[in-house]
Amino acid sequence: MTTVSKYIASPERYTKSEVIYNRCGKSGVLLPKVSLGFWHNFGQEGPFERSRAITRFAFDHGINHFDFANNYGIPAGSAEETFGRLMDEDFRPYRDELFISTKAGYLMWDGPFGDWGSRKYLMSSLDQSLQRMHLDYVDLFYSHRFDPNTPIEETLQALVDIVRQGKALYVGISNWPLEPLRKAHAYLRERDVPLLIYQGRLNMLNREPIEQGILDFCHGQGVGFIAFSPLAQGLLTDRYLDGIPADSRMAKEHFLKSERRTPELLSYLHELEAKGKANGRTIAQEALNWVLEQKGVTSVLVGASSVEQLAQNLAIMK
Ligand SMILES: NC(=O)c1ccc[n+]([C@@H]2O[C@H](COP(=O)([O-])OP(=O)(O)OC[C@H]3O[C@@H](n4cnc5c(N)ncnc54)[C@H](OP(=O)(O)O)[C@@H]3O)[C@@H](O)[C@H]2O)c1
Repeated sequence: MTTVSKYIASPERYTKSEVIYNRCGKSGVLLPKVSLGFWHNFGQEGPFERSRAITRFAFDHGINHFDFANNYGIPAGSAEETFGRLMDEDFRPYRDELFISTKAGYLMWDGPFGDWGSRKYLMSSLDQSLQRMHLDYVDLFYSHRFDPNTPIEETLQALVDIVRQGKALYVGISNWPLEPLRKAHAYLRERDVPLLIYQGRLNMLNREPIEQGILDFCHGQGVGFIAFSPLAQGLLTDRYLDGIPADSRMAKEHFLKSERRTPELLSYLHELEAKGKANGRTIAQEALNWVLEQKGVTSVLVGASSVEQLAQNLAIMK
């Protein structure tokens, strides 16, 4: 049996690392330009020691924003459980240096109260997330998607009350269309719980937050924007250039289908590869750089299945 050494975070995590922190909208919060997401690879589906190595590597390099949702991991909830163990074994002394987010909005448990945007669901889901992560509070709690069948005021008031209860310090919304986003921004501001951040899918292959005016709105109103799947789940990397590796997300044929690996994509990747070579960047770095260049983007939220991938992604801050 291998023994794992007690974790002492690198004393150089803020001095020697290249990490750059961006102000999140017009708030007091600074977030790293590259943040780490725990959607894939960190639940029971991945070896715990790999999850630990990636998380330690991130923190040792100044990456202090970790993003979760209630349903991350296989089975749902297991990514938060992995982090609960990491809190106990590695990160408890560093709690005040960490910015931990979680969300509720997609199906989490059976029956009418385990999905969408009711007060009942959001409040009980956050309680469950805190238990799984062994935390007293999260730094940021999101409504994971807009619920057209619940009064918008009910969802938003739940967010306000969650902050008033001290269970989250800030609130955000994710995947909401523009009009409800406008309403959310006004409602929350009137109650002195300003909308900290919007989380949306933005990458070179999917520019909806730009096309729909969401990024502009956030920028204009001083709301931060964090881009999820900035590598299009791995499509915008060298991962699929020569086939579909057995250990890749695409090989699982669930969230990333093999039909996405088209001749058009491959020729786009070859162009990106050539452009990257001229700039001294990999395909992934070109893709991340593009997202970070968009006006109003605070941070890119990357996933990783290895320390090497994360290291390559962090290097765009150099
Ligand atoms: N709010 C929402 O609705 C929502 C939705 C989706 C995601 N998110 C958040 O965004 C985070 C990131 O999403 P994502 O995992 O789809 O992001 P992504 O960064 O677009 O894709 C990550 C995947 O790309 C591959 N990869 C990463 N770096 C690489 C590199 N340098 N070279 C080659 N391959 C590389 C890995 O695939 P392999 O695993 O195949 O190696 C990795 O798992 C999630 O963890 C979650 O926190 C939020």
